[in-house]
Amino acid sequence: MIVVTGATGNVGRPLVHALAAAGEQVTAVSRSDASAHPAGVPGVRHHRADLASPESLAPVLDGADALFLLVAGGGENLDPYAILDAAKTGGVRRVVLLSSQITGTRPDAPSHAHLRAFEDALRESGAEWTVLRPGGFASNAFAWADSVRSRQTVAAPFGDVALPVVDPADLAEAAAVTLRDASHSGRTYELTGPAPISPRQQAQALGEALATPVRFHELTRAQAREHLLRFMPELVVDGTLAILGEPSAAEQRVSPALEQLLGRPPRTFAEWAVRNAGAFRAG
Ligand SMILES: NC(=O)c1ccc[n+]([C@@H]2O[C@H](COP(=O)([O-])OP(=O)(O)OC[C@H]3O[C@@H](n4cnc5c(N)ncnc54)[C@H](OP(=O)(O)O)[C@@H]3O)[C@@H](O)[C@H]2O)c1
Repeated sequence: MIVVTGATGNVGRPLVHALAAAGEQVTAVSRSDASAHPAGVPGVRHHRADLASPESLAPVLDGADALFLLVAGGGENLDPYAILDAAKTGGVRRVVLLSSQITGTRPDAPSHAHLRAFEDALRESGAEWTVLRPGGFASNAFAWADSVRSRQTVAAPFGDVALPVVDPADLAEAAAVTLRDASHSGRTYELTGPAPISPRQQAQALGEALATPVRFHELTRAQAREHLLRFMPELVVDGTLAILGEPSAAEQRVSPALEQLLGRPPRTFAEWAVRNAGAFRAG
């Protein structure tokens, strides 16, 4: 049995489906009740637990073979050692951690200290471990859904700075591969999309998916900072703006790892936009 945390999110939801489709027994974990999970998927059961209370995870980890560990909300309130101890006590042999590219490209970034602590704890845990370090998610574009629906406009900073954003559905497939195959044990994979794409080009791709033009309005760094501070802690906002505005060469590079894991090229942002056009369509 495989336990998937973050099971209602961008990565966890398609991961639950991918594992169930491969014939695995899956326990889908989040803090919300079963109504937040898709119903009636064969082989899937739901369990409410909070990563901040590892004792709530103990019943679900008991007897599990593998754990997909998603550090929700930055991880400031989470204790990686307590979570991994609960996994060990339950008999979990393999753990796949969803980390971030930034833990590798900016090892001193205070915004990602908690994720680095999770990586360190996992490598020391004695479990068969795999660390996935994705770049920015295509699904971050959901933040533009309201303004696209109401004004056909994307407002973002650094309009022409391109990064190889990655489709969370591809991350889910890669997670499924590494959860099911012990040969990925002890490996850290940097996962990106197939090509760098700028926010202005993402707006254009959304327009093509909607078959209606979507304007791009460039925000100043200060405007973007003010906006993001409504949703994220200051540390995370400044870390995010640094990557979006001044990415390093390593952060702009396309990694071959996702194609190697999936046996096919990663999906493009345009494909993500077509699949998710409903969230951006007015009415
Ligand atoms: N967005 C990016 O560009 C990016 C880039 C690199 C890495 N990442 C990493 O990707 C992860 C986010 O993935 P995502 O987009 O799939 O997440 P998401 O869509 O925001 O979903 C978060 C999931 O975690 C659950 N959750 C939240 N807090 C929880 C808690 N305390 N205990 C148990 N479950 C909890 C949520 O359900 P409930 O609310 O019902 O509990 C939900 O299922 C983060 O670790 C982030 O560092 C993101």
